[in-house]
Amino acid sequence: MKGLTYDLSLLNRSAAAWKRSAGLREMYAALYREVNTHCVGDAVLELGSGIGVSREFLPKVVTTDIVKTEYVDRAMSAYDIERPAEQPKWSSIFAIDLLHHLREPMRFFESASKQLATGGRIVLIEPAATFGGNLFYKCFHHEPIRIRRVQPPFVFEANGRDGEFANMAMAEGMIKRHSGEFIRALEQYDLSLKLVQYRDVFAYPLSGGYSKPQFLPTGCLKAFLLFESLLPQFVLRRVGLRILVVLEKRSS
Ligand SMILES: C[S@@+](CC[C@H](N)C(=O)[O-])C[C@H]1O[C@@H](n2cnc3c(N)ncnc32)[C@H](O)[C@@H]1O
Repeated sequence: MKGLTYDLSLLNRSAAAWKRSAGLREMYAALYREVNTHCVGDAVLELGSGIGVSREFLPKVVTTDIVKTEYVDRAMSAYDIERPAEQPKWSSIFAIDLLHHLREPMRFFESASKQLATGGRIVLIEPAATFGGNLFYKCFHHEPIRIRRVQPPFVFEANGRDGEFANMAMAEGMIKRHSGEFIRALEQYDLSLKLVQYRDVFAYPLSGGYSKPQFLPTGCLKAFLLFESLLPQFVLRRVGLRILVVLEKRSS
């Protein structure tokens, strides 16, 4: 299917893991709590919602994915963001693990900006190509993490089967390696970078994620999550597995 850069057959497997694993639910509850902290307003849109579990944590969210599945409210492409005709612009647009699947991420930012109210936010949580992230994802994750391939103007060729695309180093490449070009490109769309933070070290891999069994009891994972939340950013910048990015729409 045109524009599809992700294998949707993974969704049923993810839904089964969600039901089975309390540790996984605990991990994502922490991620959605973080997202919620940075979203503003009530008109909240999620892109690339996958199995749509965000609504358990953000009751007002509209869940979407590139195709309409049983798991989401509606189909929506990150390149062609819409809103119901009667609704004012979105106050917040968020996505977890979407950006690194986009072959044209700047087209996503352009589209998001058009549909975002002034003062509205884009909140993204992505894999982080830190020292720890590189090591972890290279050893234990099937998708590529190639920071040198993340180059302006940030347009990429498919690198998987059937036009699929992934580069786990996307956020780090754009925001850290090429921050000048990235920030200038965002300015064209009246977007500014408000916050970049790193998170997640042990609890996420030990939860087993969507594809492995849970390695520790849920109580221990909670303790790890608490410990990690106390780690300073100068440590997480080196070992964090995820990066949080918050953008804000300025008046033009
Ligand atoms: C790695 S999954 C993440 C799913 C979910 N957000 C989570 O954290 O579990 C990436 C999701 O992005 C969606 N996606 C990929 N390309 C997209 C596009 N161009 N527009 C909207 N969604 C897209 C995929 O269908 C998939 O559901």
